[in-house]
Amino acid sequence: MYALVYHGPGRKAWEEVPEPQIAEDTDAIVRVDAVTICGTDLHILKGDVPAVTDGRILGHEAVGTVVAAGSGVKTVKPGDRVLVSCITSCGRCRFCREGRYGQCLGGGGWILGHKIDGTQAEYVRVPFADTSTYPVPEGISDEQILMLADILPTGYEVGVLNGNVRPGDVVAVVGAGPIGLSAIMGARLFSPSHVVAVDLAGSRLEAAKQFGADVVVNNGSQDPLDAIGSLTGGLGADVTIEAVGVPATFELAVRLARPGGRIANIGVHGEPAVLHLEEQWIRDITVTTGLVDTYSTPTLLRLVTSHQIEAGRFMTHQFALADFAEAYRVFANPAETGALKVVLNR
Ligand SMILES: NC(=O)c1ccc[n+]([C@@H]2O[C@H](COP(=O)([O-])OP(=O)(O)OC[C@H]3O[C@@H](n4cnc5c(N)ncnc54)[C@H](O)[C@@H]3O)[C@@H](O)[C@H]2O)c1
Ligand SMILES: [Zn+2]
Ligand SMILES: [Zn+2]
Repeated sequence: MYALVYHGPGRKAWEEVPEPQIAEDTDAIVRVDAVTICGTDLHILKGDVPAVTDGRILGHEAVGTVVAAGSGVKTVKPGDRVLVSCITSCGRCRFCREGRYGQCLGGGGWILGHKIDGTQAEYVRVPFADTSTYPVPEGISDEQILMLADILPTGYEVGVLNGNVRPGDVVAVVGAGPIGLSAIMGARLFSPSHVVAVDLAGSRLEAAKQFGADVVVNNGSQDPLDAIGSLTGGLGADVTIEAVGVPATFELAVRLARPGGRIANIGVHGEPAVLHLEEQWIRDITVTTGLVDTYSTPTLLRLVTSHQIEAGRFMTHQFALADFAEAYRVFANPAETGALKVVLNR
């Protein structure tokens, strides 16, 4: 089969590799019908995630069809259409029992396209298939369901729920890529008074308006402290959500929060970011970090099937699987291409 293989920072290739085989009786082999690219894949290609080594197949989001299942798999069978989530769960360890699947101790967590071969391929081996896949409801397209593999649960859990967004809050979202936009969509479910999106790319700020931001700030030309100050009597945002993953945006997210405010970091950071405790110790702030757990996937599935959330809006470009090079180029240059999520179909 063909797959997108990582060959060290800046290097990847769509190349022929052996087809995956069932290794444990809890595995399933899934034919990839639709797959996408994540901002985290771009971090990997920058060399920010050293656990990803030469030869690894990238990708941790897919919708596909089960083609084989080990003898221990009880809930999915060949022919089933499934969502392959970015988080794999053994279902048995202490953290899985607490719904903290991202921290799984039994061989799960974020492993696809990280510690084991991922979804940017014609076929993928999915460990713990019973607890790591979700049947796709009738009438929902692959493209909609694909957004539940990572971005929607990430924005919702690590941004909105960790940030404890409440009715009436002013919520600032720094970074309006797919993750920031998911956080904006998720925040709207809680009736905030204002959602402020901050980004350097005009195309992303336009998208933020479509996804529910009331105010957009280009921090290349405007100071977001002024915009948020004018909405909050100079106090700052109740909740700030960092959805970029560079030191400057983490530090900005902290500065934008009011005393007693909550700062939810979503970004994957490859370098140290400074928490200015010499300024912040007195301000009663709460900073949260996290890897998505995907415990909200069943909730989000209901919100998608009932059209409370229009997940299909994230898709801006579609490609064939063999066009990964072009799909990465388009996804990595959103200012020029307007890309949000790119979808590759078999
Ligand atoms: N914690 C988790 O579980 C988890 C899961 C998935 C993704 N992530 C991370 O979330 C982050 C966002 O992912 P994405 O897919 O939306 O990425 P993306 O690269 O598509 O979007 C990032 C956005 O940040 C903007 N940006 C860059 N520098 C900026 C700056 N200095 N000020 C303001 N805006 C700036 C870019 O214009 C872009 O719109 C990434 O770091 C990704 O790795 C975390
Ligand atoms: Zn991801
Ligand atoms: Zn576990």
